[in-house]
Amino acid sequence: MTQADMAGSVVAITGAARGIGRATAEAFARAGAKVAIGDLDAERAKVTADELTHAVGAAVIGLPLNVADTASFTGFLDSAERQLGPLNVLVNNAGIMPTGEFLAEKPAMTELQIDVNIRGVVNGSRLAGQRFAERGRGHIVNIASIAGLTGEPGLATYCGTKHFVIGFTEALHRELHPAGIGVTMVLPGFINTELAAGTRPPAWSRALAMREPQDVAAGIVAAVIRDARTITVPATMGVLLKATRLLPGRLRLAAVDALGWGDVFTAPDQAQREKYHRRLAGEQ
Ligand code: NAI
Repeated sequence: MTQADMAGSVVAITGAARGIGRATAEAFARAGAKVAIGDLDAERAKVTADELTHAVGAAVIGLPLNVADTASFTGFLDSAERQLGPLNVLVNNAGIMPTGEFLAEKPAMTELQIDVNIRGVVNGSRLAGQRFAERGRGHIVNIASIAGLTGEPGLATYCGTKHFVIGFTEALHRELHPAGIGVTMVLPGFINTELAAGTRPPAWSRALAMREPQDVAAGIVAAVIRDARTITVPATMGVLLKATRLLPGRLRLAAVDALGWGDVFTAPDQAQREKYHRRLAGEQ
């Protein structure tokens, strides 16, 4: 999609009531798109849509959505198309990241991560992909994570779900791109949202690893315009990761621990994590 095509195009974003999704909705609206925000927190999706409509002067609507439920996802895309027109871009952004060691994780929380982070992306890719295939155009953006390339203690299930998103999205790109459908994978590092609250990389690496949701949002809009296959935000973290992956396995893990990365998710700020975990408990 060229920058000029962006004006008047229709973009749907999951989990966009707050965080990276909200910033992405704003960035697309500022680029001239009409935007449908879908979120489990339907009330907040509406408030966010109203705020962005007011701030940007663009058409932004807020709709209820549970990405794990196929019927809900179909209803979301149908409503978005009825109100805004045929969909051009779907951003599969909704995701959850509880922290803590795997054996202490409640099975229901494991299931919830699989439901939202995996089933949600699969549902969205299929339902939007079918619409795009019929029209011979469209763009799917899947938000994975740097954690989809590593295995972090305190984040086992989450890492597993994001590894899935990476493999799945790479395969989708190879299947759909020849048919004229864009597929972009996004690998954010540490982004300042409620999901990541209380998890902080070691002090020496913060400037390299931490960014604001607006930085990811700008990267996503640019990636859709230039039809990028994958982006890492911040790009410096992608370079750092590639460098450590040149080391043999055991040495790499020893280096990661020596650099102070070993306990980022096992020893976060508990008060901040509890606040986020309470929100997730309400979403079960
Ligand atoms: P956030 O917690 O700020 O926002 C996530 C939104 O998704 C919330 O509004 C929540 O209500 C919604 N949501 C949760 N379950 C849902 C469901 N079943 N259906 C519809 N909406 C649902 O999170 P953040 O940080 O904005 O994360 C967005 C994406 O970015 C996630 O996929 C996350 O894994 C990924 N990511 C985030 C990073 C970070 O450091 N914040 C780093 C790497 C990836």
